Amino acid sequence: MIWYPYEQMKTMRQPYKIVDAKGVYLYTEDARLIDSVSSWWCMIHGYKHPELTRAVKEQADRFSHVMLGGLTHEPVIRLSEKLQAYLPGDLDYCFFSDSGSVAVEVALKMALQFYTNRGSGRNMVLSLQHAYHGDTFKAMEVGDDEDYHFAFGDGGKKNVVHIPTEIWALEDAFAKYHDRFYCFIVEPLLQGAGGMRMYDVAFLKRARELCDRYDVLLIFDEVATGFGRTGNRFVADLVCPDILVLGKALTGGYIGHAVTVANRKVFEGFYSDDDRHALMHGPTFMGNALACSVALKSIELFEKENYMEKIRNIEAITKREMEGFEDPRVKEVRVMGGCVCVEVHDAATLKGFQQFAYERGVFSRPFLKYMYAMVPYVIGEEELVRVLDTMKAWFL
Ligand SMILES: Cc1ncc(COP(=O)(O)O)c(C=O)c1O
Repeated sequence: MIWYPYEQMKTMRQPYKIVDAKGVYLYTEDARLIDSVSSWWCMIHGYKHPELTRAVKEQADRFSHVMLGGLTHEPVIRLSEKLQAYLPGDLDYCFFSDSGSVAVEVALKMALQFYTNRGSGRNMVLSLQHAYHGDTFKAMEVGDDEDYHFAFGDGGKKNVVHIPTEIWALEDAFAKYHDRFYCFIVEPLLQGAGGMRMYDVAFLKRARELCDRYDVLLIFDEVATGFGRTGNRFVADLVCPDILVLGKALTGGYIGHAVTVANRKVFEGFYSDDDRHALMHGPTFMGNALACSVALKSIELFEKENYMEKIRNIEAITKREMEGFEDPRVKEVRVMGGCVCVEVHDAATLKGFQQFAYERGVFSRPFLKYMYAMVPYVIGEEELVRVLDTMKAWFL
């Protein structure tokens, strides 16, 4: 029997059974649904993209997987070279893993060991209120999302300081603990699972300044925001972190894979004649050949077919369609790049919305007080308007 995620198995609604998927559509036996969630935000090119499917098949005909322990291969070499050229600054050193949560763990271990290799006892992390960095334990520890992680108490949070996305709070935290922080980890500009919260780049610029001044590593968790979701290719293009984490859309959603990319300064903190300074981490499936092949094709499509323009269109249409939309039950409507969120005052307001959307040909998965859409970037105007109309229609 399948044990489903985030569900009380006793009371959960039967999931919709998908029998096919193509473009922005999911097919059940008797319905066609626009996927407004992009399968947890990763399916940026839509389903069954012929070029991505071909990339996987061609690689599978050669080999699907070999470990990176003592071995290497063409797809992982090419992907790391591509990322090195594609990412800003000197974010050049790619450590692959199988999921976003693991890649966050790697980033945190990397940051901590960077200081222990120097003999420093820094042991605190700065992070954001409402942060979500994944469901593994250290990722949870730096997260601040009671709605996901309430069952685990404070999970060792005493070494983590959570602040709101306000410059005064940032300055205050650095004033108190600057010599104890080994990193500041953030979901830049858009906090996803914590409620699609959006904030200003000025906060990140100030964070960069303070991290530089006090020699604290800045980590951007762009597992959700990377590859265009905020309307920027990467938020790292605006403010460059020391460590960047990518996942989800890295493989166009085809295969779970992620990467933790370090800059030269971080890499050099491990590069020595001392074996004990090596990064002791190695997921079995890191650098999986199918994942790397499809990631290369995904990035190629992203560039060749000018996805940033597609995302600008999605943002413009969304703003146009949501303009003036209000309802006493709605607290706020937020739009950024390829993300729209309708936050309501009371979670009960959204009960039944998923079935309502299903009946209108849209798959949606609101959570808590947040009704949102993060559509595949290949969506057409008519389909996008249908998603947004369905969201608004719920309040009529
Ligand atoms: C910002 C962020 N970091 C990390 C993760 C965890 O990624 P994964 O589900 O691939 O472990 C997520 C997943 O939603 C995320 O949104």
